[in-house]
Amino acid sequence: MLIYNNENFIINNEFAKNVENGLADNPKHISPKFFYDKIGSKLFEEICDQPEYYLNRIEAQILKKSASQIIDILDEKAISIIELGNGNSQKTRILLRPFLANWKNVSYFPIDVSLKMLKKSIRDLSREYSNLRIFGVCSDYVKGLIKINEFMKSKRNIPDKRLIIFLGSSIGNFDPKEANAFLHSLSKYISNDDALLIGFDLEKDKSILEKAYNDKKGITSQFNLNVLSRINKELDGGFELSSFEHKSFYNLREHRIEMHLESKLDQKVSIGAIGKEFHFKEGETIHTENSYKYSKNRLYGLVKNAGLQVIANFTDPKNQYSLILLKKIPYASKS
Ligand code: AVJ
Repeated sequence: MLIYNNENFIINNEFAKNVENGLADNPKHISPKFFYDKIGSKLFEEICDQPEYYLNRIEAQILKKSASQIIDILDEKAISIIELGNGNSQKTRILLRPFLANWKNVSYFPIDVSLKMLKKSIRDLSREYSNLRIFGVCSDYVKGLIKINEFMKSKRNIPDKRLIIFLGSSIGNFDPKEANAFLHSLSKYISNDDALLIGFDLEKDKSILEKAYNDKKGITSQFNLNVLSRINKELDGGFELSSFEHKSFYNLREHRIEMHLESKLDQKVSIGAIGKEFHFKEGETIHTENSYKYSKNRLYGLVKNAGLQVIANFTDPKNQYSLILLKKIPYASKS
């Protein structure tokens, strides 16, 4: 069941504001969170099927291999699994299945901004797992977590031991400062018995990284350009999609893949809903996404700075990707 629906928190207004400010800035930028309308979400799923985009595939492999160990480590009879941004819950099933087989009482709280996706995964999952209790939360993460707390307090028989999962290397969209703040807020939210399970993409050969974000079929390019067609549709924009080109490359110094949309010519584009015209020089780009890649050192540093400790680090044989299980660092209480 859906316990909270704040779908309208991303009102078009927020999209318009982000576009207006981002295109007036130098260099220009638009937030990656606006990739995910219905078409964008479909395209992202298609990206995950491309042979070059290894992230989700490897994470799924790691999950399969580590699920039973995660269950052993947590060692509880009841658990509430909270998922931040569940998408289609495909990978979550890998975890839910063994959890359900080992525990009697499992509640699942997916938090997602897309009501449609959320409803569909609640429907599908409740059909597949009759003994799973699902409480969907349509919201952004922070608000969603607060709502879940309120809900848990008002209900009996909801396990108060939490496992928060954040998969798909979504944390890679945050820059190091934001990632630190985000982990910090999670660490404040959970208690000493709770745990976090987070997927990080690891630093690797530049050519492998760049291929993953420049697939041969051009799906990533369509995904990137889709934000311009959203502006055209939703904000009465005048972007000529063929005059922009998808660019993505690895920025070694910043340890991140950058995605851009590059203007092929000197042009002006007007956006009706904003009531402004924006100028693009030939070769000028709109920065649309960062996807940070971590070394083990930087990963452990990030976690420690947020008051968390690594309980287990699950990786693939080639060390391409890390799934880490975290807990709070329990500080000795003063007596
Ligand atoms: C969903 C943010 C993890 O950064 O790899 C895929 C999004 N962008 N291809 C990523 C994405 C281009 C993806 N995340």
